[in-house]
Amino acid sequence: MKLNTGATIPVIGLGTWQSPDEECYSAVLSALHAGYRHIDTARIYQNEEAVGKAVAQYLKESGTSRDKLFITTKLWCSEVQDPEKALKESLKRLNLEYVDLYLMHWPVSMVNRGDLFPKTASGTTEIIPFDKWNYVETYKIMQKLYKAGLTKAIGISNFNIPKIDYLLAQSGVDVVPACLQVEIHPYLPQFDLVDYCTKKGILVECYSPLGSTGAPLLKDPALIKLGEKYGVSPACIAISWAVARDTIPLPKSVHEERIVSNLKVVDLANEDISLVDAVSKTTAKRLVKPEWGVDIFGDSAKL
Ligand code: A2P
Repeated sequence: MKLNTGATIPVIGLGTWQSPDEECYSAVLSALHAGYRHIDTARIYQNEEAVGKAVAQYLKESGTSRDKLFITTKLWCSEVQDPEKALKESLKRLNLEYVDLYLMHWPVSMVNRGDLFPKTASGTTEIIPFDKWNYVETYKIMQKLYKAGLTKAIGISNFNIPKIDYLLAQSGVDVVPACLQVEIHPYLPQFDLVDYCTKKGILVECYSPLGSTGAPLLKDPALIKLGEKYGVSPACIAISWAVARDTIPLPKSVHEERIVSNLKVVDLANEDISLVDAVSKTTAKRLVKPEWGVDIFGDSAKL
């Protein structure tokens, strides 16, 4: 698909959240050999080095050039006040000169005490108040990193419509995010958010497209039935549904046979897309809801 920067983004990416180092290395290497051209990591996943080693190994083994791959990493909340330092450190761990996409991981600013989860004396997450620092300041610095070529595109993650609207309305915000990465699967289809982003020229990436840990969606009766109809797995139905919506699924696996099979997409008939669209009427859930004492997904809060 085309990003608003003019660059292309491969439509299925390998997710690496919860892929520990050793497993991550072989997962990424298997994925690249299987034909993936898009790998999604983040500072907080603590596997950027493994991703970088696998990418380097693959480029060496295959003779492919770096520009054929699309690598994303993300700015962590406790490093939002110095995105340049954070990105340079990520690039060093990844052993890359640039990433293809740098995302602000959350619309949350944590105090930097050299600790990824800074805590107050009472044990809660230490957040910087919105009026002292917020995602607008962070984003404005990220724009400079894009203009300097350290990343080929910038974007945001875990933002809802009011927060994107707020961000885009601020003076000095002159780069429309190329992507929004959020939790999306048939139990959380996010219809309004996807429509909104399409209108703004922001591509939507889906994390946890199979329902995250344990892939609960694979036990969903509607997906099982559709899988039987098309002769594919329920995972393939969930991934194909994301592709049919012009969104970018990022299925995570550390098992080679699953990694390979998650690249398969079938062309779903319109009536079958509608059947998957309707799944959330029976089961609706958001699976990733970190408790940092701030309102992240609420529609009224800026933070
Ligand atoms: P594993 O990494 O052990 O293969 P999501 O992409 O929604 O975050 O889902 C990730 C979860 O789904 C992980 O627990 C992953 O386990 C599992 N998984 C990924 N692909 C498949 C598949 N094709 N079939 C079954 N489980 C899968």
